[in-house]
Amino acid sequence: MKYNALKGMQDIFSPDIYIWQKVEEVAKDVFSAYGFQELRAPIIESTDIFVRSIGETTDIVEKEMYTFSDKAGRHITLRPEGTAPVVRCYVENHLYNLPSPQKFFYSGPMFRYERPQAGRFRQFFQIGAEAFGVGEPKIDAEILSMLRLFFERLGLKGLNFEVNSIGCEKCRPDYRNALLDFFSVRIDGLCPDCKRRFDYNPLRILDCKVDACIKLREGSPRVTDFLCGECKEHFNTLLSLLKLLNVPYVVNPDMVRGLDYYTRTTFEVTSKDLGAQNAVAAGGRYDRLVEDFGGPPTPAIGFAIGMERITTLLKSSSNHKIPVPKVFIATIGTPAEEEGLVIADRLRDKGIWVEVGYAGNSLKSQLRRADRLSSAYVLIIGDDEINSEKLKWKKLSDGSQGEIAFTEVYDFFK
Ligand code: HAM
Repeated sequence: MKYNALKGMQDIFSPDIYIWQKVEEVAKDVFSAYGFQELRAPIIESTDIFVRSIGETTDIVEKEMYTFSDKAGRHITLRPEGTAPVVRCYVENHLYNLPSPQKFFYSGPMFRYERPQAGRFRQFFQIGAEAFGVGEPKIDAEILSMLRLFFERLGLKGLNFEVNSIGCEKCRPDYRNALLDFFSVRIDGLCPDCKRRFDYNPLRILDCKVDACIKLREGSPRVTDFLCGECKEHFNTLLSLLKLLNVPYVVNPDMVRGLDYYTRTTFEVTSKDLGAQNAVAAGGRYDRLVEDFGGPPTPAIGFAIGMERITTLLKSSSNHKIPVPKVFIATIGTPAEEEGLVIADRLRDKGIWVEVGYAGNSLKSQLRRADRLSSAYVLIIGDDEINSEKLKWKKLSDGSQGEIAFTEVYDFFK
């Protein structure tokens, strides 16, 4: 019987895993400098949490959630994103009682039953960050600047920072009416989902992926033309702070995000090297969500980075160092094999990567393995070395070699 990973899911191993680890390390370093602390939430949550936050008429909730009943008949969903679980955790643990802002980052797998294609998976990994308790645009600018620094540290260039404002509950009704006016004469051409969305949430028509709907929404009213005074001021201040911090943004008034919880600032970081699925990171403000989840009114903002898309960019943009063993110990005969094992353990105790030869392998095949592993050094131990308590070393990169006493091995590699 031969088994395969499920459609849209992938295994990650060497050499790609080293790129993943590098990205995670850089994220942790950069986010920590901005005061974000790691938060680990469960991978499954009550289905309600996602329906309520992402929105009933969104593609994610309508079509893409891995939802099932557990043995007690509870409705459970594999998280399609990380914001709702973090908000649930924030409210459940009364983290709003701690001094504001509270800032968290997280990483891990998310699940969406989408049609797999380049850059789109059913299990994909995000690194996300969420900041709670500050409504002023200063923190929006800090978050975007943090993302800029993150990409810079990874050496990724040529990314576009697209920003927009989708207003608040004050500006929405006017915008909604304008959309209803616009689509009411086009409703017959909309897909069945959008016909429903027309009644419940016409804004979602702007996010539909069906060709006919994309065509029909050409020339639709733009949300930025409907912003109230406060939202306009928030957005303009954000743009001037982005200039101050040298974050190279473009305003994209057509950007509507595929989740309902957003208010005011929304953004996407896109790359032209990624094809159709071009967003490597995306996020925005969600000033109402904490309250919707039963907490006190708490403005919040965050984003998530798509790991698979970043690693695709990194793989094509630069050469990545793959770790190699520092030492390979080749041995001839049982006493040498035992001595080699002891020396290997001493070096490993100091954090040095050591490989050893195994029973039955000739010296030649051990050396071939050392070469294939690109080990930096090879140590050779046989009966003569056991008697003299000295071993031979060879540096594979330049062929230099020499002898050292068993007792000096650690100092030699330090
Ligand atoms: P999102 O735009 O749905 O936002 O996803 C964020 C990023 O995750 C995308 O830009 C993309 O890089 C990656 N991504 C999404 N779906 C897939 C997929 N099927 N396969 C591969 N990568 C994917 C959110 O998830 C929000 N929670 C972001 C946020 C945090 N907003 C505020 N805080």
